[in-house]
Parts: sequence; structure tokens; C-alpha cells
Amino acid sequence: MSAFTAVDVIRAKRDGGVLSDGQIDWVVDAYTRGLVADEQMSALAMAILLRGMSVPEIARWTAAMIASGERLDLSAVDRPTVDKHSTGGVGDKITLPLTPLVAACGGAVPQLSGRGLGHTGGTLDKLESIPGWRASLSNDEFIAQLRDVGAVICAAGAALAPADRKLYALRDVTGTVEAIPLIASSIMSKKIAEGTGALVLDVKVGSGAFMKTVADARELARTMVALGDAHGVRTVALLTDMATPLGLTVGNAVEVAESVQVLAGGGPADVVELTLALAREMLDAAGLPDADPAAALRDGRAMDAWRTMIRAQGGDPDAKLPTANEVEVVRADTDGFVESVDAYAIGVAAWRLGAGRARKEDPVSAAAGVVLHKRPGDPVRVGEPLYELRADDTVRLPAARAEAALAVRVSATAPSASPLVIERIG
Ligand code: URA
Repeated sequence: MSAFTAVDVIRAKRDGGVLSDGQIDWVVDAYTRGLVADEQMSALAMAILLRGMSVPEIARWTAAMIASGERLDLSAVDRPTVDKHSTGGVGDKITLPLTPLVAACGGAVPQLSGRGLGHTGGTLDKLESIPGWRASLSNDEFIAQLRDVGAVICAAGAALAPADRKLYALRDVTGTVEAIPLIASSIMSKKIAEGTGALVLDVKVGSGAFMKTVADARELARTMVALGDAHGVRTVALLTDMATPLGLTVGNAVEVAESVQVLAGGGPADVVELTLALAREMLDAAGLPDADPAAALRDGRAMDAWRTMIRAQGGDPDAKLPTANEVEVVRADTDGFVESVDAYAIGVAAWRLGAGRARKEDPVSAAAGVVLHKRPGDPVRVGEPLYELRADDTVRLPAARAEAALAVRVSATAPSASPLVIERIG
């Protein structure tokens, strides 16, 4: 007989108590093994969302989630390992150019990524638009590629933090995703279990992000930095703007194409700026502060690392990317300046076009998405294109058109520029 019951643990948190180490270890383990029911864990997750958790409770919860599965050993990799995690945004393709860029500068990047859900895109969905590219690797393949190429982006195996896999799916359908202790422990348990030596967090703030305010993003970032440091993973966080989509593309193949432009030394200024800011933080955290990522973009080393990384997973970096059958161009109906482009509305439009999924098992379209022609601050004349909606089928267009209709605001005067990197924590 166990010393604990799910109902006692739920009541303790419901009434604002602090859970003991024993209660946390028991409930996470029992839930993973199916001894605590989904409805009981749902009630506990809601109690945590409403009552919060102390720092020691979050640390113990994270440790219990790590202990629910395997922890990878990357000691066979002779370069310093450093990873990046973004809390999710619209047009956030940064992992694609960043991973080979850091590898080209001497780091090894063990990037275990996810698929998109809702209005935020997933790195694996984007890369799967490259013909032949394979997201699933065995642990041995993962470690061998990390050692030989220095860059891997692949799906996390089922044995990594299985408690989180189960709990995340439950939170998604019970309105409990937004609990900061649960987001922090979910992200950090996976990153610590993956075995990286250092970690840079890109905590997004704004309409297109989970965290809508700087105060909430700062609390999440501080919690995750403390969890990483407590587990011996050197961790820093940047709070970055997600009121506006990143770059000019939102979708799958369109984001791969934009990432390749960045690797070729071009691409939109904001994507380049954030890629370099995160690369510098990663190289610093990995003990490689003298590396020059801007030079590696300019001289083609980052592009070479990208091509090697894509080929290592069966992809053809020279293959033509899928293109959409239907392209609808939306034009400005007034002169002025673009005041804002709402990340959430553009993210939902791309989702309606088929670039994202509503349920985990839904397929995504490689070619669908939104391509912006203008960004905040750009001058615009009547009749000029503002953005394109791309889809495989015309039936997708009306819902996306309705979502995107209010996303781009044009006004008579140019808006003042807002910073992309808002704050550094660590
Ligand atoms: N990403 C995660 O991995 N977990 C969360 O809880 C939220 C975002």
C-alpha cells in the first residue's frame, strides 16, 4: 500500500498547501504508470495553475519528470554541447539556421524538437517539407550525428521524460497549459534529460506567444534558468518580441526557404538579428566566446553545416521545396505606413491554410502558409501587396482570409521601432 493517495495530494494543493517531496515523487511516478487517473491529474494540474508552486516544489516536480524516463549521456561528443529552446511563436524558424551556425562555430547542438500545435509552428513539420528528411533517429544515430556533424534536429524519443509527454497532452485539453510551474518543468525536464551541457532559452512575449506580458515571461524565464542551473546545465534566457511574426514567412516550406536565405548571408533583418543574438549566447554558454557567428554566415561555413546536417538525415538540400496550388495576394487599400502585423492573427491564418494542426494526429501541408510583403515601419501605397495566403486548396482560403483581415494595420505615420530582444536573464 502506498503512503499517498491522489485525492490527498489534490486537496493539499487545492487548499494552497506546499506538496512534500514524497507526494511529488509519488504522484508523478504513479501518473506515468497509470495508477493515478487522467481526471485526478487534471484536477491537480488545475489546482497548480490556480495556486502556484514554490521554487523547491517546481525543482522537485522537474526532477520527478526527468526520473520518469532516460537521461541521455553525451560524453562521447568531444565538443561542448549547447542547445536552444523557444517557448513557441509565429514564423519562428530560428532553430533552422541557428543549429548549423553554432555547429560551424565549434559547438555541438543536440536539438530535440517538437511538432506544431494550434497557431504556433513546429520545427519538425518545417524540416519535413524537405524531400527525404527524416525526423526520427535512434539514440545511437542521434549521438553519432552530434559527434560527427555537430548538429542534429530530430524528434524526442518516447523514453525521454514520458511523464511530460502524458501530462502535456492532458494539459492541452484541460485548459492548464498556461501554468508557469508546469510550463517551466515541462520544458526543462526534456532539456535536462537530453543531456545538453548548456542551454539558451528564447522566451517569447506578445500576442503570438504563450506569455502575453513581460512580467509573466520574466517569471517563466527566471524559473527555468534556476532549474537549469540547479541541474548543472548553464542556462540563460532572452525575452524576445512575439507581437509581430518573425521574418516574412509563416508556414513550413516557406520558412525553410527563408532560413536558407539567412544561411546564404541574406534573409530578413529580424531573423538574422535574433539568430546571431542567440548564437552568441550559445557560444558564450558553451565556453566559445571568441567564435564569430556573423563571419560563419558570411563565409559559407554555416551553409556547409546545414547541408551536411540535412543530408545526414536523408534530406536533399538541393531538392525543390513544395509550392502551393493557390496563392491569394491581399493588397493595401490606403497609403501610409504599416503600423503593426499581429502575430496571433497571422499564425491562426497560416493554421487555417493548412500549415498547422488542430489535433496531434492531423497532417500538415508543406506548402501552405502566409508570406508577408510588408513589415511594421514599411511605407505602403494603395494597391501594393501586403501579404499572400498560400494553400493546397481554395476551400482553405475563406477562413484564413477572415483571420488575416485585421492583422495588418496601416496608419498615416511611421510607428516607433520596438526592440526584438527585450531583456536577458541569467
Ligand atoms: N512547451 C513545452 O514543451 N511544454 C510546455 O508546457 C509549453 C511549451
